[in-house]
Amino acid sequence: MKLETERLLIRPLTIAYKNELLAYRRDKEANKYQGWIPEKIEDVEEFIAKIADRIDVPDTWFQLVLIEKETNTIVGDLGIHFMDSENRQTEIGCTLSKDYQNRGYATEALMRVMDYLFSDLNKHRIIASIDPDNKSSIRLVERVGFRKEAHFIESLWIHGKWVDELIYAMTGKYWDRLK
Ligand SMILES: CC(C)(COP(=O)(O)OP(=O)(O)OC[C@H]1O[C@@H](n2cnc3c(N)ncnc32)[C@H](O)[C@@H]1OP(=O)(O)O)[C@@H](O)C(=O)NCCC(=O)NCCS
Repeated sequence: MKLETERLLIRPLTIAYKNELLAYRRDKEANKYQGWIPEKIEDVEEFIAKIADRIDVPDTWFQLVLIEKETNTIVGDLGIHFMDSENRQTEIGCTLSKDYQNRGYATEALMRVMDYLFSDLNKHRIIASIDPDNKSSIRLVERVGFRKEAHFIESLWIHGKWVDELIYAMTGKYWDRLK
């Protein structure tokens, strides 16, 4: 599976990228809203071993890396959760290295992946689960047109405390209207 945007190559995450992934994913402050924060290379190896080895398998996560074309550098990753047994609904989550935030890379990658999920994989709905304090993430999904559907109170146990969760979503039908 190979996707491309103006500035990025989007490729499946493989063990070859483990060092780059650890370098930005281990940043506890930048990634404080994420459930998974690796501390050592073994944590990344374990994470990569658990993800599906092909895309679009129900009840699995598939992970992509975002590669800056100009420098051939990994700037972030984007995970896709193939959620239900009908396999028409997915969840997405995106993480950029702090050094590559605020350049539009997440927006560019997300829009390409959304198009792929709706057009190539015929998905019905994409959701994102976001901490209400994660303002840049909220701006990201709102920028591409996701609508807020729910605010759950203290519904997730993350880093030793209960936190709220916003659910944002996009349907294929609504995406077609926006395009
Ligand atoms: C969520 C996350 C990926 C968003 O990253 P981001 O850098 O804000 O998003 P983008 O890469 O799309 O950049 C958009 C920003 O760059 C600005 N920008 C600057 N140059 C730009 C350009 N050439 N093109 C487009 N946007 C540009 C935009 O105005 C926008 O800023 P704003 O949000 O203040 O309006 C990032 O904050 C992150 O990795 N956070 C940690 C992990 C995390 O919590 N992930 C969420 C899990 S649900």
